[in-house]
Amino acid sequence: MNYLERAKGFVIKENPIIMGIETSCDETAVAIVKNGREILAESIISSAVEHAKYGGVVPEIASRAHTTAILTATKNALKDANLTLDDIDAFAVTEGAGLLGALLVGVSFAKALAFATNKPLVPVSHIRGHIAAAYLADKNLKPPFITILASGGHTAIVEVKSYTESVCLGSTKDDAVGEAFDKVARVLGLSYPGGPNVERLAKEGSPTVQLPKMLKNYTGSEYDFSYSGLKTAVINYVHNQTAKGVEINKADLACSFQHSAIDVLVEKAIKAVKEKGYKTLTISGGVAANGYLRKALSFAVENTDINLVLPEKKYCTDNASMIAAEGFIQYNQGKFADLTLNAKAVMPFK
Ligand code: KG4
Ligand code: ZN
Repeated sequence: MNYLERAKGFVIKENPIIMGIETSCDETAVAIVKNGREILAESIISSAVEHAKYGGVVPEIASRAHTTAILTATKNALKDANLTLDDIDAFAVTEGAGLLGALLVGVSFAKALAFATNKPLVPVSHIRGHIAAAYLADKNLKPPFITILASGGHTAIVEVKSYTESVCLGSTKDDAVGEAFDKVARVLGLSYPGGPNVERLAKEGSPTVQLPKMLKNYTGSEYDFSYSGLKTAVINYVHNQTAKGVEINKADLACSFQHSAIDVLVEKAIKAVKEKGYKTLTISGGVAANGYLRKALSFAVENTDINLVLPEKKYCTDNASMIAAEGFIQYNQGKFADLTLNAKAVMPFK
């Protein structure tokens, strides 16, 4: 019997131990998670330093780095958990969205492990993985809830109706918020990764620069966003002041941008929680690591009955524990893949 035939007979175990594998961008991450909530071990090897000199992730460098790091990351995770491959019940892997070559390394590796150990292969959406990071932060968290999804590629207010059903209430019509942070970092002369560096600089400034209000006179969803105008306003401000020979207070500009970019996320998320009558708000994606966003949300829920779930910063940016957490949900549904599984650069939000 080949893997495909055997896969049909895989049983869904109770309290499974799932290995999560994440290689969609510049982090090679492997984690081992029990029952979708208990992290037994995690190993993360980043190639961010190699990309820094180019000002952004270079896909070919990322792919090559994954090929050299993935075995070490896996061995490290198993060693830290004091487990062997025999103890793993399923292999969950990010199938997309992300850099195709980078994803292919993780997908091929997970397929090989599933085939060799005769265990289920569980494909996971990177975005659903980000949202599932909240289950690691609050062991009692159950849908429904609202999440702010704010990463390098996505910005949305998502209604998580159940473990398997999510509805996007509104999203960005152009740039993602993380992308805007990265582009603003560049124009301010800050190195990659831009978001954390803008945040660091913003701490030294005040929000004194007037920037345009988002989606003025817009008639689409009240939960939609647009970051392209804000980003362009920052770029134009830098060019205009430089042309006039006026010295720019970069810290003030970074702080003003951060306020404009983040305040609107807070405002729309709180509105969504109240409108849907939910009790819980979570945040997900790399920008959820932003300290100003976390503080602003904590402040906004003070004296309300909203339960705010803030995953640790390391579970907001790319990691494999979130992939294992979402993998657990898919595993319980029996959503297994066979060895024809392919990486997907683009994946619709579902
Ligand atoms: O979720 P993520 O790690 O990867 C994607 O799936 O995109 O998000 C990366 C994005 C980058 O744009 C990065 O600049 C941004 O998250 N980011 C931040 C912070 N940390 C990461 N943005 C603002 N403040 C931060 N502290
Ligand atoms: Zn991500």
